Amino acid sequence: MKDKDYKISFAPMEGITGQTFRRVHAKMYGGVDDYYTPFLAANKNHAFKHRETREFLPFTPNLIPQVIASNPKDFVWAAGVLRDAGYSEVNLNLGCPSSTVVTKKKGAGLLRDLEQLNRYLDEIFEEDDLPKISIKTRTGYENNDNAAAIGKIYAKYPICEVIIHPRAREEFYNGMPDINAFLNMAEHLTCPVCYNGDIRTVQDFERLKEDLKDVNHFMIGRGLLADPGLALAIKGIDEKQDKAMLHNYLSVLWDEYSKELSSERAVLFKMKELWYYLEWHYPMLKKEINAIRKSKSGAEYQTLVVRVLDN
Ligand SMILES: Cc1cc2nc3c(=O)[nH]c(=O)nc-3n(C[C@H](O)[C@H](O)[C@H](O)COP(=O)(O)O)c2cc1C
Repeated sequence: MKDKDYKISFAPMEGITGQTFRRVHAKMYGGVDDYYTPFLAANKNHAFKHRETREFLPFTPNLIPQVIASNPKDFVWAAGVLRDAGYSEVNLNLGCPSSTVVTKKKGAGLLRDLEQLNRYLDEIFEEDDLPKISIKTRTGYENNDNAAAIGKIYAKYPICEVIIHPRAREEFYNGMPDINAFLNMAEHLTCPVCYNGDIRTVQDFERLKEDLKDVNHFMIGRGLLADPGLALAIKGIDEKQDKAMLHNYLSVLWDEYSKELSSERAVLFKMKELWYYLEWHYPMLKKEINAIRKSKSGAEYQTLVVRVLDN
């Protein structure tokens, strides 16, 4: 980070980057400037589930709560709750591609009908007593042809930042991020813009920062699951890149999940999910990691992890 200061955020990932995970990552590695909660669902009953409340209470600095809502009134309610909890920014999810989400016209489902998107944002930005609102968006629904049109809609509102994941909803996470779609949307925006998508190595980051000279903020999700020290490495700090450090981090995560979750099976499930991404960083250990992902008990899991990480 010799030339200018870049901000790196840890992307929200439902089912993975919950409060326990974020706390352990921040303590053991860090290197990211802020974390986002996985989406909090604002429904018409105007009550968060206990599990969701624990994501944002007590107030945590450097945490941006994210909300998903099909009805703007529900978003406004949730943003009010988060303001009262002390948050000065709330992020609106306009990117989740899952079928159950988009059929309810939320997440990326709101990118399908641009008139409706307009009305939705009109209603939210009519409110004047809300925290700052940022948006995390994809660049289209079926394809990226509407990236510029969506950008023009966003430009009409006092959005504090747009985080762009340049894929259409229909692509889910397949193919490559479309840098042109990113630029087509970004050129219409007057607010700050953040790039998100497929940063897995320091080289990926270096390349993107050259391609996107006006961007100072990058968000990383799966790359940081695969290599929890990636943000540090991007910032030129390499000392946390070894296997012993990774083993330590995974042990602390195991212990913390064991306090939070009701069964060993649930803890094992969480850890095995992480190993899916860790394999990206250790492709040469594919066979051994496959065995870890098939382990049937905590004891078997721990033995296999020692075998992979302690030599
Ligand atoms: C398992 C999983 C869960 C996710 N959950 C969320 C979420 O709750 N909110 C959100 O905005 N994006 C969510 N995403 C998308 C990520 O935040 C991010 O945009 C995407 O993974 C692309 O960035 P990456 O290539 O750096 O991972 C999720 C992605 C995955 C794979």
